[in-house]
Amino acid sequence: MDERERHIIYDAIFTVSEAKEKAPELKGVPTGVPGLDDLFYVVEWKDKKPHRKSLGGIPLGCVANITGMPDTGKSLMAEQFAVKQASLGEPVCFVTVETPASYLSVGLEQRAKAMGVDFKEIEDKIIILDAASYARLREDMPTLLDTLAHVYRTYRVHRTVIDSITGLYEAKEMLARSIVRTIYTFCKKWYQTALFISQKRSSHEELSAEAAGGYAVGHIVDCTMVLSKELILSARAAQLYKVEVGEIVRLFRIDGCRMCGHDTRIHLMDITELGLVEIGPPLVEVLKARGESK
Ligand SMILES: Nc1ncnc2c1ncn2[C@@H]1O[C@H](COP(=O)(O)OP(=O)(O)O)[C@@H](O)[C@H]1O
Ligand SMILES: [Mg+2]
Repeated sequence: MDERERHIIYDAIFTVSEAKEKAPELKGVPTGVPGLDDLFYVVEWKDKKPHRKSLGGIPLGCVANITGMPDTGKSLMAEQFAVKQASLGEPVCFVTVETPASYLSVGLEQRAKAMGVDFKEIEDKIIILDAASYARLREDMPTLLDTLAHVYRTYRVHRTVIDSITGLYEAKEMLARSIVRTIYTFCKKWYQTALFISQKRSSHEELSAEAAGGYAVGHIVDCTMVLSKELILSARAAQLYKVEVGEIVRLFRIDGCRMCGHDTRIHLMDITELGLVEIGPPLVEVLKARGESK
């Protein structure tokens, strides 16, 4: 038996109508990734028939996880999101766990240029929290949360990026669940629309949602997106994708989102010359069109 004194937690009890008052409106937060925002939708009723209406972004208040192997475009997507939101006037807190702040700022400037955003206009809208250089932020959760709360209050932030959350439980994967849950709950409490980047271990199936630390991340967050890249090594695969042997095909999929409807198909994905991630058409449609044109 628990030795603690028993008591009723009145604060934890709500009627649905009371709870609803605190819920964020269901609307889209643009990601800055072409082709992605329309993959999230709501259903509207017209003449007693359901119609899909694009949300135009990830749902407001959503904590989303982007997972994939190294070099699949996760950090680019994180930067595109930060630049896009800043360009819309939203302050963004970017917790950088792998790349020190000065290097990240160069990446953000490049991304802004590629997106046609005037970097001078957004420089002060992106607040970088450098957990790459300050180990205490990676290793001591209360310090990280206090510092984040300070940033949220000072800069009135409602957008958060953590690249990567895996870096917060390196060498202690057993704690992944509790670390991710703590930060997830914290982001929800502060009404953040957040992107958590997580890495996959090489042994995982490419397009599965299992990140390092097991399914901890995927089960806790509201939405998971998976990126993968396939090395085309066989003539058959090359023919299928219409590329040369030795080329790379990039794929993208939304593994789940519990806040709204979403596309569930595997999509082609591209990283442009300028270093921008773009989500392409569903793989099934591409293959069908190629089959018909033969
Ligand atoms: N500035 C850039 N210009 C062109 N391509 C880039 C640029 N930056 C990154 N890339 C390409 O995008 C790939 C994915 O980068 P990144 O988002 O950093 O991967 P991840 O965070 O998933 O490890 C890189 O391996 C590189 O091929
Ligand atoms: Mg990265």
